[in-house]
Amino acid sequence: MPIEACHTISERLRQRFSTARSVFVLTGAGVSAESGVPTFRGGGKEGVWKGLPFSVISSAAMVERDLPAVWEWFDYRRDLLEKLKPNPAHDALARWQSRFENFTLVTQNIDGLHEAAGSNDVLELHGNIWRARCLECEKREDLRGCDNARPPVCQECGGAIRPDVVLFGEMLPPGVFEEAAERASQCDVCLVVGTSAIVYPAAALPEIARAAGAFVVEINPELTPLSAMCDEVIQGKAGEVLPLFEI
Ligand code: APR
Repeated sequence: MPIEACHTISERLRQRFSTARSVFVLTGAGVSAESGVPTFRGGGKEGVWKGLPFSVISSAAMVERDLPAVWEWFDYRRDLLEKLKPNPAHDALARWQSRFENFTLVTQNIDGLHEAAGSNDVLELHGNIWRARCLECEKREDLRGCDNARPPVCQECGGAIRPDVVLFGEMLPPGVFEEAAERASQCDVCLVVGTSAIVYPAAALPEIARAAGAFVVEINPELTPLSAMCDEVIQGKAGEVLPLFEI
């Protein structure tokens, strides 16, 4: 597995990319790092907020135990995100959606920056921080139009609502992973961008693509457990590397 450290797109990869009919892209927190969104584990350690590890404050158990604290945590992250813009990696992926017969963008990110860059039909494996969902009637609502009463209540049934994101200990939204896996099994080229590839089932998608014969490429400044099974690894930043595919 050749490792490109000086950000060149090999002739082999350029050939595969330019002749591909179906391209599948999986992104993680790293694709938003150059926009200023903190990653979860880059650098080998897990983030902490008010003394609580991300995996605790962002958990289903916390919704049960202290829903106001969960809202406070996600309000903090929304305030951070509000000021941030998509970077050249998001922009490149948005341009690619009309370039291929089939293009699939699957993200683990909840930051909404792919949509902000103009990407449509993004398969959001872990939900979206700009949406909320009622604990009673499951009605979803966009938080951008919502008043800031905390904890907010459902406009439909008055029930308590929670952030519409997948928390630790929870299943993915029904059907999203299955749809992603189906498309991964049919792609010619699979790009894995900015993920530590340790959280399943998301990390299984490149494996599904590989098993179905796709050419798998990882883009990440660091090696991950996935690197060894990739056809090519480009150790670089997504915002610097993805635009190179178009040159
Ligand atoms: N470009 C590309 N990759 C980058 C960049 C960059 N500019 N900066 C950092 N990275 C890489 C890091 O090296 C790391 O491997 O992005 C990866 C980010 O890994 P994580 O923080 O673990 O994020 P992710 O893989 O998306 O986490 C998966 O875990 O915490 C849960 O639900 C959360 O969706 C998240 C899931």
